[in-house]
Amino acid sequence: MNQAEKEAYLREYSILKNEGKPFFPYAVAKDSAMAVIVLLVIIFLSLMFGAELGPKADPTTTTYVPRPDWYFFFLFEVLRVIKPPVWTQLATIGVPTVCMVLLFLLPFYDRSPERRIERRPVALTAGILTIMAMAYLTYSGANAGSISVVALKAPSNLTPSETATFNAGKLVMGQSGCLACHRLGDSGNSAGVGPNLARVGLYLKPAAIASTLKNPTPPMPSFRSIAQQYPTKFKDLVTFLSDLQ
Ligand code: HEC
Repeated sequence: MNQAEKEAYLREYSILKNEGKPFFPYAVAKDSAMAVIVLLVIIFLSLMFGAELGPKADPTTTTYVPRPDWYFFFLFEVLRVIKPPVWTQLATIGVPTVCMVLLFLLPFYDRSPERRIERRPVALTAGILTIMAMAYLTYSGANAGSISVVALKAPSNLTPSETATFNAGKLVMGQSGCLACHRLGDSGNSAGVGPNLARVGLYLKPAAIASTLKNPTPPMPSFRSIAQQYPTKFKDLVTFLSDLQ
């Protein structure tokens, strides 16, 4: 800001200040009135429609899919894209912190008195790029495959009843938390501790798969309880895995 700009700014400022009203009580009264209105609307809405509560928290579930609220999808996506664990902290804490600090310091490094947007190419570009990046990350975060769904089509050589069993077993696999450790086609955790199961039917017979599920090598947990409580589901699961060839 040069001397002439500074004087022009101060002149404008004093004119505006003379025309204006003091912050207290005018602005304070307006803000308070608006705050009361917002509060009343919220109270009204909660009385009319109630507040939705999800199902009770179940600490024993293995199928819970942690997903953030939509306004955190961009961060969720950053976390998904940046896989190596050493980078996780940097991605989730570092990137947002750097952005917040840059935003906080804006008045100190951007000293230009120019306010018209077309004369501020750097700020304009940075703003548009930020919005586009966040929109893109939010979109892909929202559409990220769920870890409780196996995205896989039944092989076309199966009969209709075999296809039904395949799909039933696929559902059991999705809901049993297997994808937290295993990868299968495009689904699952590529950084998981378990082997890729895409061809497991080629080298393991159904009986071997069943016994792996009941007596696995740690860290894989035993799924004996499925076999005991839901024998049909267990059979579907084993058949599904045997069909993966
Ligand atoms: C906590 C992680 C974890 C979970 C959850 C898990 N597994 Fe595993 N699984 C493993 C690991 C690790 C191995 C490899 C064990 C070994 O080397 O013997 C394995 C091995 C297997 C094998 C043998 C594969 C092979 O190549 O020998 C099958 C089949 C299998 N898992 C199926 C499943 C199914 C189906 C589920 C869900 C019902 C599941 N797993 C859940 C970690 C897991």
